[in-house]
Amino acid sequence: MKVKKAVIPVAGLGTRMLPATKVVPKEMLPLIDKPGIQYIVEEAVASGIEDILMITSRGKWTIEDHFDYAPEIEEKLKAAGKEDELAMIRSLANIANITFVRQKELKGLGHAIWCARRFTGDEPFAVLLGDDVMCAEIPVLKQLIDASDKFGASAVGVQYVGNEDIGKYCSLDVENIENNLYLVKSLIEKPEPEQVMSNFAILGRYVLTSGIYDVLGNLPPGYGGEIQLTDGLNKLCAREKMLAVEFSGKRYDTGNIKGYLEATIQFGLMHPEAGEWLRDYLKSLKL
Ligand code: UTP
Repeated sequence: MKVKKAVIPVAGLGTRMLPATKVVPKEMLPLIDKPGIQYIVEEAVASGIEDILMITSRGKWTIEDHFDYAPEIEEKLKAAGKEDELAMIRSLANIANITFVRQKELKGLGHAIWCARRFTGDEPFAVLLGDDVMCAEIPVLKQLIDASDKFGASAVGVQYVGNEDIGKYCSLDVENIENNLYLVKSLIEKPEPEQVMSNFAILGRYVLTSGIYDVLGNLPPGYGGEIQLTDGLNKLCAREKMLAVEFSGKRYDTGNIKGYLEATIQFGLMHPEAGEWLRDYLKSLKL
């Protein structure tokens, strides 16, 4: 399956990061010198994606501005002869074809994806959650697209989550196909301990067929009164083949304080100018 389109839902209110996210979208909080959403768009582009639809909501306009031209800044950089910075700011606005649609009522992730149906049409498409930032040698989305292409099926990105945390995610019933690839048999969102089917949970990356719209359009609200994407996937995997790809790489949930801090430290340590300094500074703290 050739996947050229991606959907990035960014409509959520980010209430776990208040008051930082009262006005600033959580996706725009910086991980060192880039907002989190930029890492996600860069991962999509590095995975071969050309067209991106972001599902936004009220108050998220700074995300649109971030991927637009910035004439005043560009003028100033040009006048100062700062060619590298100018090229960087320009290329950001041309990184991909990015369009936006509003989810007018926040009815859940499943509903947010349903809002993308006109954009994707009958094509398979990728989904990258707007607050799940990855650090991986091979882009995580590319790992999913390659598996999906090989088997001609939908694919979800999974990793092992400990017993103490699996109830915050979804749990999957899977059957091994080869190495890190599994066939998905069923899924449950936010399982109670007795409902856990495995410690594999989906962490923010998907490749879906348009078949998902048939199920999402008729789905009743699930956990938390929201239209849950997991419930839609549970129906979809009964109708068509779906893979779970145990991806290589580290995922950061930047929508909560600890995950945001982990990502900030990780990207700080990897930063070409600040990395070494940060390593020495952390050592000097002698905690
Ligand atoms: P989250 O539950 O992590 O985001 O949703 P949230 O609602 O902002 O979280 P709180 O308020 O801190 O608990 C996972 C993804 O689904 C998107 C979010 O933007 C995030 O990318 N989402 C969620 C929507 O786009 N629309 C919705 O109605 C719900």
